[in-house]
Amino acid sequence: MRVFVAGASGAIGTRLVPQLIARGHEVIGTFRSPGNAERVRALGAEPIALDLLDARAVRKAVLDTKPEAIVHQATALANLRDFKHFDRSFAQTNRLRTEGTDALLAAAREAGVHRFVAQSFASARYARVGGAVKTEDDPLDPTPLAAMRETTAAMRHLDEAVTNAGGIALRYGGFYGTPKDGMLEAVRKGFFPIVGDGGGVFSFIHLDDAAAATVLALERGRAGIYNIVDDEPAQVREWLPVLASVLGAKPPRHVPRWFARLIAGDAAVMMGTESRGASNAKAKRELGWMLRYPSWRQGFMAAYASTTRQTDARLIVAS
Ligand SMILES: NC(=O)c1ccc[n+]([C@@H]2O[C@H](COP(=O)([O-])OP(=O)(O)OC[C@H]3O[C@@H](n4cnc5c(N)ncnc54)[C@H](OP(=O)(O)O)[C@@H]3O)[C@@H](O)[C@H]2O)c1
Repeated sequence: MRVFVAGASGAIGTRLVPQLIARGHEVIGTFRSPGNAERVRALGAEPIALDLLDARAVRKAVLDTKPEAIVHQATALANLRDFKHFDRSFAQTNRLRTEGTDALLAAAREAGVHRFVAQSFASARYARVGGAVKTEDDPLDPTPLAAMRETTAAMRHLDEAVTNAGGIALRYGGFYGTPKDGMLEAVRKGFFPIVGDGGGVFSFIHLDDAAAATVLALERGRAGIYNIVDDEPAQVREWLPVLASVLGAKPPRHVPRWFARLIAGDAAVMMGTESRGASNAKAKRELGWMLRYPSWRQGFMAAYASTTRQTDARLIVAS
């Protein structure tokens, strides 16, 4: 297939492009930052500069390159630190998920592109009641926190716009797999505490496994939603000490909810204490997806342990 990857220069895009090419696909890869053309070309794709928020440019890029499929992996989350002003921190990504998605879908319609896959998110979105692990059929949180209202709405918009158009929205877990992953600095410095009882459940996914699932969704997925997460959703109190150990950091501190709310805001408290995880059963069943890192336990080791005291880390991961 001739595949148009929006966001080819990003964390998931750079893993996805080589996997698509290895499966015999031809890739047009978009980038935004000057200087990323060579990066995309080196991955084996035809690079084009594109601002997804410029609908006319999106239309032209899609009509000119004549793809058979489109994958939307554009986000703007570099240097994400301020969870207190959650919607403000996610504002640009929210635009990419709403305006960017709509521009790509309109261009796809006009160009007769019938395969469309877009990046969505799984953790902290499902209703904060009932079981700890949710399927795609379970309801999303009907009462999102005020601080996250725009971000939640943008993800919902993407899910609905894409699936209503016959496409696929992939609700990924928290990405990890590079030394630059967002949460590492905070964990290393001891700024990522266990809040309250640490009962919030996170679902993670290694970037290589996320890319593999994306290729399969593109090739054989049905219109709708797929959770793309690993086999082991886990409470913060379980995974965070392991990550700290793998990184060679001190064990995480425990802080009460009121303190975390004051310092980091409602969203951080909710994620640390109430968030639900996601099930990958549908993706495995329908896509035939097999994970290289079925649990963050192996994945964290593979991604980060080379820079730390491996013996210590292995002991903790295995226990
Ligand atoms: N599920 C998750 O946990 C999740 C989801 C998203 C991101 N993240 C993490 O957040 C960190 C930062 O990610 P990021 O989103 O900033 O960057 P990223 O993943 O490195 O890149 C996102 C992609 O979107 C492109 N892009 C950005 N703004 C655009 C625009 N206006 N129009 C078209 N394309 C645009 C970028 O292009 P250029 O690179 O050329 O600018 C890049 O190709 C990474 O560590 C990533 O793993 C996690």
